[in-house]
Amino acid sequence: MCPTTPDHSGLPLPYEWWHEAVIYQIYPRSFMDSNGDGIGDLAGITSKLDYLAGVLGVDALWISPFYTSPMADFGYDVADYVDVDPIFGALADFSVLVERAHGLGLKVVIDWVPNHSSSKHAWFVESRSSRRNPRRDWYVWKDPAPGGGEPNNWVSVFGGPAWTYDDRTGQYYLHSFLAEQPDLNWRNPAVKEAMLGTLRFWLELGVDGFRLDACHFAMKDPDYRSNPVLEHPEPGYKDMGDYDRFVHLHDRGHPDIHMLFREVRAVLDEYSAERSRFSVGEIHLEGEEWAAYYGDNDELHMPYFFGMLHGDWTAAWARRTVGSLEAVLPPGAWPNYVLGNHDEVRIATRYGDRRARMATLMLLTLRGTPTLYYGDELGMVQADIPPEEQQDPWGRRQPGLGRDGCRTPLQWTADPYGGFSTVRPWLATVDPDADRNVEAQLADPDSMLHLTRRLLEVRKGSEALRIGDYQALEGLPETVFAYRRRAADGETVCVYLNFGGEPVRVPAAGEVLAATRRDMAGPVGGFLLLDGLDGAVLRP
Ligand code: NOJ
Ligand code: CA
Repeated sequence: MCPTTPDHSGLPLPYEWWHEAVIYQIYPRSFMDSNGDGIGDLAGITSKLDYLAGVLGVDALWISPFYTSPMADFGYDVADYVDVDPIFGALADFSVLVERAHGLGLKVVIDWVPNHSSSKHAWFVESRSSRRNPRRDWYVWKDPAPGGGEPNNWVSVFGGPAWTYDDRTGQYYLHSFLAEQPDLNWRNPAVKEAMLGTLRFWLELGVDGFRLDACHFAMKDPDYRSNPVLEHPEPGYKDMGDYDRFVHLHDRGHPDIHMLFREVRAVLDEYSAERSRFSVGEIHLEGEEWAAYYGDNDELHMPYFFGMLHGDWTAAWARRTVGSLEAVLPPGAWPNYVLGNHDEVRIATRYGDRRARMATLMLLTLRGTPTLYYGDELGMVQADIPPEEQQDPWGRRQPGLGRDGCRTPLQWTADPYGGFSTVRPWLATVDPDADRNVEAQLADPDSMLHLTRRLLEVRKGSEALRIGDYQALEGLPETVFAYRRRAADGETVCVYLNFGGEPVRVPAAGEVLAATRRDMAGPVGGFLLLDGLDGAVLRP
């Protein structure tokens, strides 16, 4: 056995379902179309729950927004927080989905978009109608700057000023994202009450939790001061155009956000007698600033950890990234990992096919709750959407930043429409590689799908992997990142990942339970041989 670093444990007892769950993210437009209009829908998801629970073996779904929406940002512009867009079905379809999912043992997590509504939401239509409208203060309206122009220098994540002038009432309104996504004024108690009411609405319908969209944006500087300009962006920063030219000191994450999240948590706790209702927040921050969103175990159950999305893909990087997350966790807080989502280039494209296999092995064996992005279990690649077919407003505005490529329909079969629809889907699909579909991969025991299934199966059968502690293993070749997971009763699993291109031999004995190559499974006596970019899960 290799020497180890100090251990990381501290699982709060009793632990809840979300500590040990694997979450599967569904982009509802692209999972399954039930009615032949080329767009995925809720009934489509329901029809494929057996795949998720039975074939794949995940524990929970997070479904991206299916609220009533004009779809300026494909549902992240909500026109009614308590209804379903007809494109996706109706509330009754959602109830059926929840009931069937629960019947199969799957939890259902939905998106909640607190920072902004759609400009077509009745609240904003009223707010915009006159300065004296009772809902005027439900959004952020400001006079032009003294010399004219925007009230301050805040810019929208999607490019251009974060302020749009409204001729009729002579003021600007704030939108951290598109102009069609006006920011709600969370400092107005009526807004807070109405929005927390929408959480209760879905909790009553049986949802098990929420993914909170861009949630640290909800509280800004109450004086609306301009942001400092960043003269020299850090090397390696993600180029989001204009947005990265500023230090985002005042336009998001004001400390009052923590008070708000405590209130959100209190609502979830009201409904947690029978089972914990859970929250995970989209928080693009780092280190202690990021970890603060766990609060004192009284804010978000977890802020999403995005540190694994981008890196130089070395063993040292992976080990450092995991270590940095473990090191900032407050007592009793639980980690989580993400390799892809509807905003990021597909992992198989970002890191390559071999690394995507290794990455999945790592995702499903680290200490923490993993989120698996739909299609990554097939190694789906980033689609190249021709400019005239691009749908994402961000990409249309800032070429190169569009997110359509990671949002294409799940490929169920090699049929022209991927078995997803009977007509040409909203985003043309057809991967040139005929093997990246469920049908073909089920028939191939070496496929990414079988690897993912196997890892989920091993995880399910191992308390060490689900909730055990984490210790990095020391003294191994430089290209190897390895760790030990151990349950309270002593059950132990070791994971070895060779990030290098050359084969390595690591001292190990036991049985390989799962590996990036199927022929590695079986007993190991003394040494484990890992080819370049291979990984293995071993029971010592
Ligand atoms: C983050 C979401 O993940 C992204 O898809 C969306 O465009 C923005 N928030 C705005 O809601
Ligand atoms: Ca449909």
